[in-house]
This record gives sequence, C-alpha cells and structure tokens, in this order.
Amino acid sequence: MATLLLRQGQIITMNPHNEIFRGDLFITDHTITHIGKDLSHMEADLVIDAQGKTIIPGFVQTHIHLCQTLFRGQADDLELLDWLKHRIWPLEATHDEESIYYSALLGIGELIRGGTTTIMDMETVRHTNSAFLALAQSGIRALSGKVMMDQGESVPRLLLENTTDSLQESVDLLEKWHNHEDGRLRYAFCPRFVISCTEELLIGVRDLSQKYQTMVHTHASENQGEIALVEAERGMRNIVYLDHIGLANENLILAHCIWLDEKEKEIIRQRGVKVTHCPGSNLKLASGIAQTPDLLERGINVSLGADGAPCNNNLNMFNEMRYAALLQKPILGPTAMPAKDVFNMATIGGAKALGLEKEIGSIETGKKADLAILNLNTFHTRPTFGVDPISQIVYSATSENVETVIINGKIVMENRRMLTIDEQTVLHESEKSIERLLQRLPEIK
Ligand code: GUN
Ligand code: FE
Repeated sequence: MATLLLRQGQIITMNPHNEIFRGDLFITDHTITHIGKDLSHMEADLVIDAQGKTIIPGFVQTHIHLCQTLFRGQADDLELLDWLKHRIWPLEATHDEESIYYSALLGIGELIRGGTTTIMDMETVRHTNSAFLALAQSGIRALSGKVMMDQGESVPRLLLENTTDSLQESVDLLEKWHNHEDGRLRYAFCPRFVISCTEELLIGVRDLSQKYQTMVHTHASENQGEIALVEAERGMRNIVYLDHIGLANENLILAHCIWLDEKEKEIIRQRGVKVTHCPGSNLKLASGIAQTPDLLERGINVSLGADGAPCNNNLNMFNEMRYAALLQKPILGPTAMPAKDVFNMATIGGAKALGLEKEIGSIETGKKADLAILNLNTFHTRPTFGVDPISQIVYSATSENVETVIINGKIVMENRRMLTIDEQTVLHESEKSIERLLQRLPEIK
C-alpha cells in the first residue's frame, strides 16, 4: 500500500457544491481516501508541500488524435476535407509501429505537461497496438481505439479496410487492452465519420459496442461539405442518420457538432449523446463555431478536446478553455460561456462524457487521484488578491503553470520533470520518425 499526502494547497474540488478551500489530500494507492483542513496527523510514504499552490482535478480531453502529433505543422491553412485528402490521410498511411509509438509519447508528454490526465484518443487504421503500449507506459488515463474506415473518396490504399477485418481488428485490440493497467486503459470503437464508413460497418460497431458495453467515438457535423455528402449518400441529415441506424445513445461521443439543425440537437439531447467541443481545431480548419451555450442550456453534456496537433497546433487544455469562452462572446455577448462553465466542461464534464464521473473529474474521497498542482505565482497570473481562482485558471494560466501531475495515484510529472517518459529520447526519436514518414510519402497511393 502506497500513501501520499498533499499539504495545504488551495483545492478546487469541482464537487457538487463547487467547494474551494485550503487543505490536505491523502491518497492511498490509486484513490483519494481523505480530504481535510489539516491531515498532518496522518503518516504517509511521501509528503508534497503544496502551500501557495492550487490543486485541481486533472483535465479530461475527450477528442485527441495521438497518431497525428508527428504531423504538427505539416498541414496548415486548409479546410477539413482538403486537409484530410491531401495531407492527413496520406501521412497516416506512412505510419509504422515505431512512429505511432513516438507520436503517442510526444502527444502524451505535451498533454501531461498541460495538466491533462485523461483522454479520449482516436488512432489511425493500423499499428494501434503501439499507441496502447505508449499509453500504458506513460501512466495517462485513456480511452482509445483504432480508427475504422471502409469506404471513401481519395482514401489511400493502406487506410482502406475491408469491413469484416476492421471490426475484427477492433475486437482483437479491445480484448487485449480494455480495462488494462488497473482499469486505466479502455477500448472505444472509432468509426472515422459517416462518409468514411459503410452502413454495414456502422451497424457492426453498434452491435459490438452493445455486446462489450464500450463507448463509440466519431466525428460528426464538423464541416458543411461533410454534411452535404452524408445527406447525398444516405438521404438524411448526419445526426438523423446516426439515430436511424441506432448509434445515437449515451455511449456515443461526437466530436464537433457545429452544423446541427433543431431536430438534430433534440436527438442528441433525448438520446443522451455526448458532444466534444474543439474550438481551436474548428477555428483553424475554418469549420465554424459550435453553438455550445445552446447545447449546454438544453442539458446536453459538452466537454472539450484539442483534436490533433496538425489542426490546432497544440494539445493543451488552457488554450481550448480560453477559445471556448472567447469564441462565443462577440456573437452572444460578454456573459456567454463564463469561466466556471468552461472549467466544468474541462473537468467533470469530460468525466461525464466518458461515463467516468464516479471515478474522476472532481476531487472527492473515493475518486481516483488524478490531479494537477499549479503554481500560479507567475507574472502572467498575478495578482491573485480578490481574483476568482477559476477565472485565474481559465483566462490567465497556461501549461507553464502546471508543476506536478498525479494520475491514478502515481506522480507522472514532479516539479516539471517527466517521470514516465524520457523527454530527450522522445524529442529525438519523433524527429527521426517524421523524417522517415515524409520520405515514404511520395509512394503513398
Ligand atoms: N473528420 C474525419 N477525420 C478527421 C480528423 O482526423 N480530424 C478532424 N478534425 N476531423 C476529422
Ligand atoms: Fe478529430
């Protein structure tokens, strides 16, 4: 039994009463077992002095593509469908086992440095086992799955799958990784988006996700060209179609949801579908502005994600929180998307999206110890006197303020030093990997 005591930090709990107070946290193995004003009488294997620091629930990002981290800067200034056809799909087709591994570790390193402790990750078609090896080693909490694509225009041969093989490979990965690493890793089925998937594949995913009780993650209604193609091909609007084939339920997480009509918003609400808002990606790919306040007002669960490195080009939650808040204000006025709503989406909202709200997303006894310790004593976050701490984090803080990160009770970054990832090796090897992939790129058909 390992024990850890965090002393005298300002704790932003995100519990149902939104309590914020100065106090102690006691962690036993993976779990927060005691919270109090002063637990100095308790003996722990390790004590961290958090005086003057702020402790928050680790961020939960519900849409990330770790396989794309190596492509940062390789696909700027394009709209979604050109970005995919001309750059991202050919680049994904060049991946090998080693490059997937370093792409994942580079992304996870950035995520942990930015205080993210849980992700919903969508990989590429091949080599997903390597991504799981990186997830396992790094200590991050993740749902992940291979992307599935069995149709589509301009898809490189190496990414185009046979329907049965796509389903079978997904099940094989699920059986290998689902609930592994003390439940820290889970499998999720990841059909890419409707226009990449036959109806047979989507129905197969529906049945398998019911059989194994797992989440399904896909992109939906991100781009006007995308929804026009769905309508032309399937004779229905995108979300109506997903509902028609029985995929719209509480285990479905949809990234983006920008181009929704009234009927589609109501389907999402009634079926309990979860939405991931990706404001950085939506701006850069010129996709549009999601009507996040409207979705939240309807009672739909909305969480946040940075998407992939080549459409953002960073993976840190501080950027996404800032974009999510600022984006709405010129349209709806300055009171739209206040800091507290954004922080809620970044923490407990993300946990609810993944069905993990009993385990993570807030600092409460019985929950897993997934925490970030922030040092807000910096030029860009001071002064603090009279400042709401959540406003300070959402509007002023950056990844630089994240000092120590704990996931599942284990310290993965201590005073900015990575403990599970060899930083220099990952920086060096990811450079070598992208060089190799770019050499391969002209041969991709
Ligand atoms: N839609 C289908 N694939 C993708 C992807 O890789 N990224 C984004 N942002 N949208 C997609
Ligand atoms: Fe995406």
